[in-house]
Amino acid sequence: MHIVFCCTDTNAAPWLQGLREALPEASIENWQPGGQAGDYAVVWAPPQAFFDSQHALKAIFNTGAGVDALMKLTLPADVPVVRLDDAGMSVQMAEYVCHAVIRHFREFDVYEAESSQARWAYRKPRRRCDFAVGVMGLGVLGARVCRALAQFDFPVLGWSRSPRQLDGVQCFSGEAGFGDFLAATRILVCLLPLTPETEGIMRHDTLRQLKPGAYVINVARGAHLVDEDLLSLIDSGHVAGATLDVFRTEPLPAGHPFWQHPKITVTPHTSARTLREETIAQIAGKILALESGASVAHLAGVVNPDQGY
Ligand code: NAP
Ligand code: GLV
Repeated sequence: MHIVFCCTDTNAAPWLQGLREALPEASIENWQPGGQAGDYAVVWAPPQAFFDSQHALKAIFNTGAGVDALMKLTLPADVPVVRLDDAGMSVQMAEYVCHAVIRHFREFDVYEAESSQARWAYRKPRRRCDFAVGVMGLGVLGARVCRALAQFDFPVLGWSRSPRQLDGVQCFSGEAGFGDFLAATRILVCLLPLTPETEGIMRHDTLRQLKPGAYVINVARGAHLVDEDLLSLIDSGHVAGATLDVFRTEPLPAGHPFWQHPKITVTPHTSARTLREETIAQIAGKILALESGASVAHLAGVVNPDQGY
């Protein structure tokens, strides 16, 4: 069995070592143009030239949860794409979103500013029931985030493509449920995959439907948000601010208005990082399962090409 590794912006050496330890029977190489074609590919944002050189793949393993970059390429026909299924990301995402929600709700950003001026001043407690959190995307990450938020007694709403049921979460689905979901939400969290249906989903006419004093947390992909619409709704006072981890261009360009905006917190696409050990264990386990005759349909995280996620 031959495995080809092609992850851009990644130090390949520890990945190759980890994969070799997990799959001692396999030959594993970092991809080079002209190299041997693989049975399996382990990739993150590979160039089209990579797939143009692969004609024997049985499966493609993405070392992230989102496959939007991959789905823009021409992939070999009928080869399954398998994305990361949690692999240590959901707990990180729950930490990040709970931190952002609580920081905003409890006004810790204001306290930070006041303490930097040596100012001792209380703020009036706000009512939790006025800060319903709406999570778009109830998959592996969104469901974990909802559970974590519910532990803090926030009213939690969720929205997905197909109907879902989650304990303690008021669930909405599809186009039909979107308006009611937005109207009941004060803090909006985006955990959708980026697809043609979800691109630009946070724009003026949707954000306008949130409760006044809304807050936006984007931890999915930058292209889910129309940057100018967020800025104009903050200017108008309808949106109180945002915590943004992902951007249309990454790194966020110097001079982008988000960097210096007093109501926007920026982090560098770090809300849920790919963890090497967990990722290698998950991918190696799936390769071994396939090699022992398991059907792809039994693997978690297989991408539906028609849905794009
Ligand atoms: P997932 O398990 O595939 O869940 C996706 C969820 O989105 C599902 O609930 C799905 O609905 C819903 N959805 C998809 N299209 C929809 C639509 N058109 N309308 C309404 N709901 C829709 O994905 P995941 O593992 O939770 O990851 C979600 C995303 O997080 C990834 O795609 C990636 O972009 C992002 N991410 C970001 C970071 C970071 O560091 N910032 C890290 C990891 C992942 P159904 O339940 O009906 O299928
Ligand atoms: C990170 O953004 C991922 O999709 O895993």
